[in-house]
Amino acid sequence: MFRFGVDYYPEHWPEARWEIDARLMQEAGFNTARLAEFAWSRLEPSPGRFEFAWLDRAIAILHAQGIQVVLGTPTASPPPWVMALYPDAYRVPESGQAMSYGNRREYCPTHAGYRERSRLITQALAEHYAGHPAVIGWQTDNEFGDRCYCDHCRAAFQGWLQHKYGALGALNEAWGTVFWSHEYSAWAQIPAPLATAAPFGEGSPNPGLALDYYRFMSHQYVAFQREQIDILHNRCPDHFITHNLMGSGYDRLNYFDLAADLDFVSWDNYRRMQWTFQPEVRPSEAALAHATMRGLKHKNFWVMEQQAGAGGWQIVSVAPRPGELQLWAYQSIAHGADAIIFFRWRSARFGTEQYWHGLLDHDGRTGRRYTEIKQMGAEIARVGAQIAGSEVRAEVALLLDYDTRFAFQIQANNPAFHYIAHVHDIFQAFHARNVAVEVVSAQEEFTGYKLLIVPALYVLREETAAAIERFVRQGGAVLVTPRTGVKDETNTIVDMPLPGYLARLCGIEVEEYDSLPAGVSQPLAFTNEDIHIPETLHARIWCDVVRTVDAQVVARYTQDYYANSPAITLNAFGAGHAVYVATFGDAALYTALAGWLLKLAKVEAIATPPAGVEYCVRWQGEQRILFVLNHIAEEQHLALPEPMLNLLTGETIPLSSVDLQPRQVMILAAPSGNGW
Ligand code: GLA
Ligand code: ZN
Repeated sequence: MFRFGVDYYPEHWPEARWEIDARLMQEAGFNTARLAEFAWSRLEPSPGRFEFAWLDRAIAILHAQGIQVVLGTPTASPPPWVMALYPDAYRVPESGQAMSYGNRREYCPTHAGYRERSRLITQALAEHYAGHPAVIGWQTDNEFGDRCYCDHCRAAFQGWLQHKYGALGALNEAWGTVFWSHEYSAWAQIPAPLATAAPFGEGSPNPGLALDYYRFMSHQYVAFQREQIDILHNRCPDHFITHNLMGSGYDRLNYFDLAADLDFVSWDNYRRMQWTFQPEVRPSEAALAHATMRGLKHKNFWVMEQQAGAGGWQIVSVAPRPGELQLWAYQSIAHGADAIIFFRWRSARFGTEQYWHGLLDHDGRTGRRYTEIKQMGAEIARVGAQIAGSEVRAEVALLLDYDTRFAFQIQANNPAFHYIAHVHDIFQAFHARNVAVEVVSAQEEFTGYKLLIVPALYVLREETAAAIERFVRQGGAVLVTPRTGVKDETNTIVDMPLPGYLARLCGIEVEEYDSLPAGVSQPLAFTNEDIHIPETLHARIWCDVVRTVDAQVVARYTQDYYANSPAITLNAFGAGHAVYVATFGDAALYTALAGWLLKLAKVEAIATPPAGVEYCVRWQGEQRILFVLNHIAEEQHLALPEPMLNLLTGETIPLSSVDLQPRQVMILAAPSGNGW
C-alpha cells in the first residue's frame, strides 16, 4: 500500500477543529498521519502521570476518516520537568558550554536519568497503543544528532575505549600519543575533544582521539535509539519502527549504523529552506539525498517530512512555486519512496516554527498548496498500488563513508574541500544522464554493479581495498579521487605511497601533492580521444603529483612545477579498469568524464531528455515504470521511443512526441522497455 499523508499536531489546535481537519485530510486522499513526536508535555505532564486520552480521541477521529497513524516517541524535546529533574542532562556542545532550556535536542544521549525517562515514556506509549487498530508503526525520537561533550559522555567514552582497545598500551600505540607527550597512563585521563574540532579552531586534537570520539558519539545515539526499539519490538511486534533522518548533508552520525536497527529508513526532504535563498532548486541534490537514504539499507524508504510550504523560523524562505510541491513529492517517489508524508498539516500560530508553512495556512483555510496536493492525492489513489514496493535498480555504485566524513571534519585538508560537495559534483554527472546510482558503504561487496565511484575515501581499511580489487578484477570499473587511502582506521597516515592500499589497483604512486589556494586552478590537457571535452577543464583545490607504474595517462597538468605530469590515469586490472583523477575538478570535469566512464563500465544510459527533465525508472517485477519530471517552469517536448500508458491519467500516449507542461510529472508504463 502506498502511504500518503501528513504530519499532524492535534495538540496545537482546539479539539473542535479536529473533525474538520480529518475530513479535509480524507478529501486530500490521505491515509496516514504522523503524530505526537513533540507532545511529551501533554503525554506525561508530570513524572509517571500518563495522559493518552486526548491522543486516543484524535486518533479515533482520524481513523474514522480512514487515516492510520505513525506515532513518534517524544524524546527529542523534553518538557521542563524532565530537565529540572536532571540539570546535568543538558547537552554540552563542542564549545564546552552546556545548553539551557527553551529549544529542542537539548539532551545528552548518555545521561542515565534521561535514558530512563526515554524508556518509561516509550514503554507507556507502546503498552497503550500495542493493539490499536489505527496505529501502524513508530518513529523513534526526531532527527537524531548533535554531539555531546559533557562529563557523562567523557566517562562513557573512556569505557567505550577500554572495551575497544583492551589495554592503554594499544590505545597509545593506535593514536600515536607519544606525539606531544600525550601517553595516557589511566583511562580517566582521556579527554573529550572539546572546542578543538573546527578546522581552524583553538588547537587541534589528536586525530585518532577525535575520530574515535565521533564514532563513540554516533554509537551513543544508536544505543539510545536501540533502547526504544527493544521496547517497541517487544510490546508491538506487529508495528514497524523507523526514524526520520536528514538526507546526505547530515554528517554527525553514522547513518548506516543508525539505519541498521530500523525496519526501514525515513527522511525529511526540504527543497526550499530559509537559509538557502537560491532561486533555483537543484534536482540532483534531492536525488543524491534519496540515493543515500535508499542506500543505507538498499531498500525503499519513506519521506516522513515532505515540504508542504515555505520554510522558516526567523526568516521565511521563497514560497514553493505552483507545481513544485507535487513535483518534489513525485521526485521522492521516483527515487524509491513508498510513502509521502507532508510536513506539516497547518502552519503553527505560535512557537519557533510559526513560519514553517503547512498545507493549510495559519487561518486554517485551504488554498493553493492544499489544492495541489489534493490533486496529487487523487492521482496516488490511481497509481499508488502499482508503484508501492517497486524497486530502483542501479549498475553504478557510489561509496559513501562516515569514518571519512568524520576524519575530514577533524582535518579538512584544504579549506575549499567539502566531502559531500565533491560527492555531489561527481553524482550530478550521472544524474544528468539519468543513470541510477546506488549509495554503498565500505562494508559491502560491490559485485553486481558495473561502475564503482570511490570519492576521496580518506579512511580506507585493507578489507575495503581488497573488496574493490576483487570487484575490478572481475570486470568492474572504478573511479578513485584524491585523498583516498591516506588514513587507516585509527586515523593514522599509512606507511606507503598513496593512494595506499589502492595504489596497486590504480597502477600509480602519488609522489607528492599540492594543496591549492582559493581561486587557483590550471587547465588539463587530455590525451585520450574517447573523452569528449566540450570546454577547458581545470584542476583545482588539490593536485596529486603522480608517477605512473602500470597505468596510462588520460590527461596531464599544464602548469606549475608538475606541468606534464599525469592528472588522470587509466589502469587495466584483471578484467576491469581503475581510473584515478588526481585533482578535485568542478562538476564540469566529472560531467565530461561520465560518458567515458559509463562506456568503460559498459553501462547503458537511458534515453536523454531535454535539459531540466529528469527520467527515473522503478521496476515492479519486470515491468518498468518511467517517471518523467519536468523541473523547470517552461513547457518541454519529449520524444518517446514507443507509445506508452500514462498511469496518472490512464491515457495511452500514441504519438512519439509529447508536450510536458511546466513542472508536470508523468508516470509511464513502458511496454517493452526499449530504449529505457
Ligand atoms: C525538521 C523537523 C521538524 C521541523 C522541520 C521544519 O525536519 O523534523 O520537526 O522542525 O524540520 O523545521
Ligand atoms: Zn553528554
